[in-house]
Amino acid sequence: MEINLLVLIYLIGSVTFIVGLKMLSNPASARKGNLVAAGGMFAAILGTIFLYENEGQKLGNYPWIFAALLIGTVVGTLMAKKVQMTAMPEMVSLFNGMGGACAALISVIEFNHLLHGASDFSALDGTKLLIILLGLIIGAVSFSGSMIAWGKLNGKIKDFAFGGQHIINQVILLLNVVIAAYIITVRPEQTHVLFYVIVALSILYGIFFVLPIGGADMPVVISLLNSFTGVAAACGGFLYGNKVMLTGGILVGAAGTLLTILMCKAMNRSLLNVLIGSFGGNKASTAGAGVGVSGSYKEVTLSDAAVVMSYANKVMIVPGYGLAVAQAQHVCHELEKALEAKGVEVKYAIHPVAGRMPGHMNVLLAEADVNYEKLLEMELANEEFKNTDVVLILGANDVVNPAAKSDPASPIYGMPILEVEEAKHVIVNKRSMKPGYAGIENQLFFQPKTSMLFGDAKKALQDLLAEVRSI
Ligand code: TAP
Repeated sequence: MEINLLVLIYLIGSVTFIVGLKMLSNPASARKGNLVAAGGMFAAILGTIFLYENEGQKLGNYPWIFAALLIGTVVGTLMAKKVQMTAMPEMVSLFNGMGGACAALISVIEFNHLLHGASDFSALDGTKLLIILLGLIIGAVSFSGSMIAWGKLNGKIKDFAFGGQHIINQVILLLNVVIAAYIITVRPEQTHVLFYVIVALSILYGIFFVLPIGGADMPVVISLLNSFTGVAAACGGFLYGNKVMLTGGILVGAAGTLLTILMCKAMNRSLLNVLIGSFGGNKASTAGAGVGVSGSYKEVTLSDAAVVMSYANKVMIVPGYGLAVAQAQHVCHELEKALEAKGVEVKYAIHPVAGRMPGHMNVLLAEADVNYEKLLEMELANEEFKNTDVVLILGANDVVNPAAKSDPASPIYGMPILEVEEAKHVIVNKRSMKPGYAGIENQLFFQPKTSMLFGDAKKALQDLLAEVRSI
């Protein structure tokens, strides 16, 4: 039996995607997982360039292909090396948009092939036409939506909504579906023109779909758009009968969908609620919510905080968005080591949506070489708080807000939280009494066992570290 080398490479490539994805689910194997999947992709690309044949013809166009590969590799590598952790979602969005654009362009090219290969419109292959249009619509929406998300995250584009926008969005989408169905079933003389009307409407839909969504809800939207790009790429794989592209697209589509669902669950919000924009979008409407939040808070001095922590048996650190913004992960690790040198057990409690992107805290702490075995997921951390002497909250707010459990009027009611108030002492580091992402007050800050340690997380930790070392 003759073994087709290209098919074998595609099979190996598909397996590396699945194995790589599995390895990404654990911080210990995540880096290797990325390399394994990238290796499979590399082999699949080279295999396609050199081994693919259509009716005895190889791809050719090598100077163009390698020039594009070189430019892409240099730009991608430089961007990935330069990017700040807090700017990661916007880079993911940009890359995702490029993927969507590629998928849409495949549809444009294949549509023209199909058109030129057929004697008249009625002879067009219906299934191919359907896949081309699906890839086109989903890819173009993903492209323009991701570009808007990128612009919003880097502050170049502001939230923008007008009355009835959601209805207009639905109308654009419906119009697109109707035109696509018309092309497939009727194959009118104007098929060519209508095809480009679909391109324009899809791009417009992507823009209108993402524009009104709150800037901080972008990670959920990016994950959703990521799944769109996966589906659009799978359409390309289907068109070319390319199994590795199909597998890759399906995996991205499924992973993006699951991540979107998990993020929504961890925030206790429906996808519709995120898309139509509740908190994160209209902060003014929710600011101040949180019934019964009142009273006075107390501050703790650096030396008192250092004493309580140095003489504790167990300290649990709760990292949040503020830690990421302040880039305080390295000094946080130093504090952990200083406390451990005094015999204190130190662990980290990680909320699934702490920060602004999935796995934000894990990546941040891994960057500072914190042992991942010290990172407790929410369920485990919640079991340990009652045996914890001091909880040190670093720039986290919503993920420790007890209103999520006790106040049905709160916009975050029902969101699972880190139950830090079970511990003996709670020290909260933030710069002011201002609310976090959800725009709501936090009763935790006013509880008798809580003390506030105001200041930028990096500076406060540096000072706290000096105090701990001096004890
Ligand atoms: P937040 O609730 O946003 O609270 C962060 C706190 O950090 C703020 O209250 C802020 O208070 C403080 N802060 C800001 N800069 C600081 C600095 N330099 N030093 C010290 N503190 C600083 O963050 P969280 O508790 O991590 O919760 C995450 C929120 O994001 C959740 O509501 C979640 O639903 C949402 N979200 C997360 C994701 C993912 S996947 N992670 C995706 C979408 C939405 P001051 O201004 O007073 O300093």
